[in-house]
Amino acid sequence: MSFHPLRIPVLLSIAALATGLAAPVRAAEPTPPSTAPAFQLPPLPYAPDALEPYVSAKTLGFHHGKHHQAYVDNLNKLVAGTPWAGRSLEQIVVDTAGVADATALFNNAGQVWNHTFFWQGMKARGGGKPTGRLLERIEKSFGSFDAFKEAFVAAAVGQFGSGWAWLVLDGDALKIVKTANADTPLAHGQTALLTCDVWEHAYYLDYQNRRKDFVAAFLDHLVNWEFVASRLK
Ligand SMILES: [Fe+2]
Repeated sequence: MSFHPLRIPVLLSIAALATGLAAPVRAAEPTPPSTAPAFQLPPLPYAPDALEPYVSAKTLGFHHGKHHQAYVDNLNKLVAGTPWAGRSLEQIVVDTAGVADATALFNNAGQVWNHTFFWQGMKARGGGKPTGRLLERIEKSFGSFDAFKEAFVAAAVGQFGSGWAWLVLDGDALKIVKTANADTPLAHGQTALLTCDVWEHAYYLDYQNRRKDFVAAFLDHLVNWEFVASRLK
């Protein structure tokens, strides 16, 4: 028997009558505004235990499922019912950077963007040395790959309190920068290539106060250099 769409209301009316309820007749109503949250937590690009033993499944579970999720939830609360809800995450970060009465919006949007970017820069059995044009650019910019690693670790360890260490493209130059709290190269006109989260929640369960060991493990075993190279194009 072929399906006929008109059959459904007929059947519903019969069902309503069978239960003693008259089927209400209503004029068409306007569609209510969407109550769906503007932003969603993006899934991790790998399994929660994929980065073990360098980042434990427990750390990754809390970091992504609790911390990153909380930034997404806070951002959704802040933008709900405002014109910000219709803008992209990147637009919100750029437009609220340095705006005194938009600090909470910038902090949560920045942290959503930073974490989403951080996950992409890692993979199982990553780390080591990049190849090709990326390696050449790094060697040209920092003198050698070891000098790059040294400078990246120094930035990550030298970031006082919470923040991020980054490899960025600033104009045509590769640079290592550090940012505090939710600050991000996106807000400074730089192209992020790689980041390491140095908030304590990123490493404390696995490394306690040994931030330097976490950053060394990040460079030696976790960096997804293919992702970094893709950002250079
Ligand atoms: Fe984090």
